[in-house]
Amino acid sequence: MINRETIDKIMDTARIEEVVGDFVHLKKRGTSLIGNCPFHGEKTPSFHVSVTKGIYKCFGCGKGGDSVRFIMDHEKYSYPEALKFLANKYNIEVEETELSPQDAEAQSAKESLYVVSQYASAFFVKQLWDTDEGRGIGLSYFKERGFREDILKKFEVGYSPDVWDALTQSATNAGHKLEFLEATGLSIKNDNGKIYDRFRGRVMFPIHNFTGRIIGFGGRTLKTDKNVPKYVNSPESEIYHKSNVLYGLFHAKKAIRDLDNCYLAEGYADVLSVHQAGIENVVASSGTSLTVEQIKLIGRFTQNITILFDGDAAGIKASLRGLDMILEEGLNVKIVSFPDGHDPDSYMHHVGAGAFKTYLEQNRKDFILYKANVLLKDAGNDPIKRAGIIRDIVESIAKIPDQIKASVFIRECSSLLEIDEHILLGELNKMRSAKLKKNFDNNQRANQSANTKPYSSGPPEPLGPPDDLWDDSAGPMGYVQETVEEEEFQEKEIVRLLLAYGHEFVNWDKIDDMYIGPFIMQNLADVEFDDPLCKQIINYYKTEIDNGRLPTSNHFVKHEDRAIADLAITLSTSEHALSENWLNKHLIYVKDESMNLKATILGGIFHLKKRKVEKILMNLLKEIKEEKNEDNQMILMQRYGVIKGVEREISKFLGSVIVK
Ligand code: CTP
Ligand code: MN
Repeated sequence: MINRETIDKIMDTARIEEVVGDFVHLKKRGTSLIGNCPFHGEKTPSFHVSVTKGIYKCFGCGKGGDSVRFIMDHEKYSYPEALKFLANKYNIEVEETELSPQDAEAQSAKESLYVVSQYASAFFVKQLWDTDEGRGIGLSYFKERGFREDILKKFEVGYSPDVWDALTQSATNAGHKLEFLEATGLSIKNDNGKIYDRFRGRVMFPIHNFTGRIIGFGGRTLKTDKNVPKYVNSPESEIYHKSNVLYGLFHAKKAIRDLDNCYLAEGYADVLSVHQAGIENVVASSGTSLTVEQIKLIGRFTQNITILFDGDAAGIKASLRGLDMILEEGLNVKIVSFPDGHDPDSYMHHVGAGAFKTYLEQNRKDFILYKANVLLKDAGNDPIKRAGIIRDIVESIAKIPDQIKASVFIRECSSLLEIDEHILLGELNKMRSAKLKKNFDNNQRANQSANTKPYSSGPPEPLGPPDDLWDDSAGPMGYVQETVEEEEFQEKEIVRLLLAYGHEFVNWDKIDDMYIGPFIMQNLADVEFDDPLCKQIINYYKTEIDNGRLPTSNHFVKHEDRAIADLAITLSTSEHALSENWLNKHLIYVKDESMNLKATILGGIFHLKKRKVEKILMNLLKEIKEEKNEDNQMILMQRYGVIKGVEREISKFLGSVIVK
């Protein structure tokens, strides 16, 4: 076990913005930091970090906690693992008391895979630099290709000797268990029980996860023999899941965040070369087609991807379709292609670092427009082909979740394709409603087969209209019970604010000459209160204001109706308790709420509005499910879309008004 002093030291040293910042692109918003929540897919940020409190909280999915909690949740680490991760990040020495044998075993199983991979990497590095074979074959190969030593060292490239079991022997002699060598695929047992190395006579590229631990390898042959596979790669293992790894991300993540862009190349060599040109925000998909997980991974650091296209026109055309997936994730996609069949690696060495950098900067094209251009060139004047292009392009645009962005592209493509904007828009809407319908049907089917629980016991399946309905962030409003409680809480909060501040004067920019009481009432004119007591108080308050009087809290505190008096007393005397509740529920820190009355009041008003809108959405969702008539369903879905937009606006507003 890690001892108390070490834990305290870690807790004192770890800074939430740095810990979270390694994984989430955080932007300053007022006095807090916000970003896209790494725990649920979202396109508008609802993930807040409070530097002063040392905690984070997602208003979308509700996850929250301190630095350790974050690492546990994010990396799927146990508590001690998370502590060790932080200790390592801050160079704190971990002092441990003895582990129980079971704990030690459980902890060490996965850990051993990391350890053996690290061992192998060091072995390959040593072979490359310190042996005749490594230097003569491996290092001279890299040198010939023009790679600098510092780049080779940074990426810890190595060499595996052309011997059957060099690594296996070395590792087992050093005390590593064969079991783990096999589990990582570094050693292979053949049918006769003989053990041999997976990587032999190859230059080795270690693959890091994005926290920097080595999880696998790619080994490139140096032979020109066509029968030898160019690359041999580590197999999937408990620590290596190819679909959610990007080569180079560990070294690139800081630059990606700082420069707010990620270059995406194809191969190991490309990543090294682009780095060598002084461009560090580059990763590679390692030859496989890009996965949604990989896109999401990039999305944690930036919303901008620039693809460095490799190869000929035919290859480019073939890969264009795959990129729609990135649009679907809400990221912006740009493209750079290289002349004369060059790839990023060959082009960098061809023109040199400086010219390469300039080339990237001057040849970025927006993906949609790039695609339109490529296809147009291909179609020439053939009208049928041109019609096909329109569909193709609009299909891509339809994938963009942000409607405003999509309409900008429609406009640009309309001039590029010389087609009336309305025709393109018509096409876009057709595709959208087809998608709407399809998703809805799929959800219906999924619900019918999977959902045996009654509707109100769980989050409804996301379904219905535009875009982000398929986004997890639509989730939290599904918890009926929670919504009811929240709603009651928000209503009481409004009453509390009226009692506490109703008589104070509003003097915020643009709104003045007004008491807070009427200001709140005016802003909530369209909101129905559900809690009977709150409703009674609000109605009375309203009548009084309509008659030109401003009720005092005393009026309610001394009310003849016992229930109203009780509530008023609770609300006006337990200001602190409620604030604490507010804090627990929302992690909103009203240090001294009267200091920031504007945020407190607007927060109160708009949180309640948000709840009400969420309730409407929930009911609509239920209606949609129950509606049998397709036309009616479509109308309901459209309405859902509009109200969802209102909800998004409120959330956005809340994000900007909440001050800590
Ligand atoms: N790749 C692979 N297996 C292969 C070929 C390619 O896993 N047989 C993956 C590797 O991750 C490689 C990437 O696809 O880095 C891109 O392929 P390629 O351009 O052929 O490899 P480079 O690394 O660029 O190699 P080089 O420039 O040395 O030819
Ligand atoms: Mn290449």
